Amino acid sequence: MFYETRHIRMSTNKFLENLIAGSSAKMQDVRQHIALAAPYPVNVLAIGPTGSGKELIAKGIHKLSGREGKFIAVNSAAIPAELLEAELFGYEKGAFTGADKTRKGKVEEAANGTLFLDEIGDMPFSLQAKLLRVLETKTVQKIGSEKSIPVDFRLVCATHTDIGELARQGKFRADLLYRIAVYTIENPPLADRTEDLDELIKVLSMRLKKTEKKIKPAEFDPQALDYLKSYSWPGNIRELANFLQKCSVLYSGQTLNVDAIKDLMPSFGAPLDQETEEQATLWAEDTLESDFSENVDDSLATEAFSLENLTQYFDDERSLNLKKFLSELEENFIAAAMQHSDGSVETAAQKLGLNSEELLEKIKVLAVMSKSKPLL
Ligand SMILES: Nc1ncnc2c1ncn2[C@@H]1O[C@H](COP(=O)(O)OP(=O)(O)O)[C@@H](O)[C@H]1O
Ligand SMILES: [Mg+2]
Repeated sequence: MFYETRHIRMSTNKFLENLIAGSSAKMQDVRQHIALAAPYPVNVLAIGPTGSGKELIAKGIHKLSGREGKFIAVNSAAIPAELLEAELFGYEKGAFTGADKTRKGKVEEAANGTLFLDEIGDMPFSLQAKLLRVLETKTVQKIGSEKSIPVDFRLVCATHTDIGELARQGKFRADLLYRIAVYTIENPPLADRTEDLDELIKVLSMRLKKTEKKIKPAEFDPQALDYLKSYSWPGNIRELANFLQKCSVLYSGQTLNVDAIKDLMPSFGAPLDQETEEQATLWAEDTLESDFSENVDDSLATEAFSLENLTQYFDDERSLNLKKFLSELEENFIAAAMQHSDGSVETAAQKLGLNSEELLEKIKVLAVMSKSKPLL
């Protein structure tokens, strides 16, 4: 019996170490909290800055909970308030204009699995009451339906805001906060655990090798590594992964010194701003994804850029710099496809109807031209 428990502990630890890298005391703590909370049906709230790995915490809890259902993630900040309710609870055919068929919500999809509500602090106040009801009754009602469907899901929420302060200001329901934050796990910013940087670079390089067959990860000489450790990493691990990928695209397999990385720093110094990130995530949401990937030409031609809309644009006596507009549009599409593909050039290329070489070429050109916005 003793050996068995020990064995389970060991495999739990191994699993978590593979999922969440970092030997610092702070990361050991985070992994220990995940292992402690996972087997019990308590609602967990992961707190920490953007890109610090809150979604990984949620995935770790799901895996270790032993639940057989799916892991379903919903980002409250990325979905417009008026769509979020339908996204979460689903709807009956005819419940509102455009509801041409009955659809399950994410809560129902998470049955027997885990529902991950990211950026819960951004959930509209009116919806907070409805979520509270779902948690209290353990049932969900589709919009336009009277029927209550029982649902059994594990809830993990995450936020980068001080949600306690939001509650004190009356912007977040205190009764909901107490329900979702039964077990709180705090994820430290990367700047507070720079001793993890070497290990993180190794892990992220290995991931890069697996996803990108065309490029070899760049390496850093000791001074360059020290320089990276002195940087504040406002976008945390996500920013580090993007930086590593950018270095590797531009300097495949080379060892970079301080001068080389300083040149690359200004373009990634500012983290992806919240709005760009939300937009990219929004595009990644599957409702839009299906319209998007099934019929790219059609949805583009018929929606924003229809002949009718464009004619109206000029009706307002406006003019346009067509070349600049098209290159910005191309840049945004590439950035969105990269985000949506978790940074994989190969997957993003497929989404854009390009081959990997063509996309890499475009990224290189745009990375040199645009110092303002990180593409990778
Ligand atoms: N400790 C870690 N080890 C390995 N990869 C990590 C770690 N923390 C974050 N990542 C990676 O960084 C990216 C951002 O993590 P994510 O969980 O989405 O952050 P958050 O939800 O806090 O914004 C993901 O690609 C994730 O796999
Ligand atoms: Mg996140």
